[in-house]
Amino acid sequence: MANQRTLCIVKPDAVEKRVQGHILQRLLDEGFRVLALKQTRLTRDAAEGFYAVHRERPFFDELCTFMTRGPVVVVALERDNAVQHYRDVIGATDPAKAADGTIRKLYGSNVGENAVHGSDSEENGAKECGYFFAGHELL
Ligand code: RTP
Ligand code: MG
Repeated sequence: MANQRTLCIVKPDAVEKRVQGHILQRLLDEGFRVLALKQTRLTRDAAEGFYAVHRERPFFDELCTFMTRGPVVVVALERDNAVQHYRDVIGATDPAKAADGTIRKLYGSNVGENAVHGSDSEENGAKECGYFFAGHELL
């Protein structure tokens, strides 16, 4: 399968636990290439824009409050079959239901505070990388 891009966000809970290095190393060990990487802090507008598809969901406000409470690490990744492989490595949304050894099982706390974000399609992977990084940073 051709190269794909996917966006990892190490969420505030995982940065608070100081496990961002472990997560990044795991992704490197899984064969992902880092195209771009930064630590930043989301504004409310940035969080609401990023999660706009969830605007009508009951957890939207809680999610945006959580995502803005501290720094995040944003990583644009590339690999063969990146979107599906990354989702296999992070595990189910709810860490309690995630398979052993997955990032969310290892580092997540609950269904909201689940350590990492992952893109859900090839189209969104490319779009989300572009939400955080300029085109020339992703070459
Ligand atoms: P993500 O987008 O972060 O990779 O997670 P996902 O696809 O596994 O889950 P999604 O349905 O897209 O939800 C986005 C994020 O919203 C929070 N959430 N909270 N309280 C709840 O029931 C609930 N459900 C989802 C999680 O932080 C989830 O990752
Ligand atoms: Mg999602």
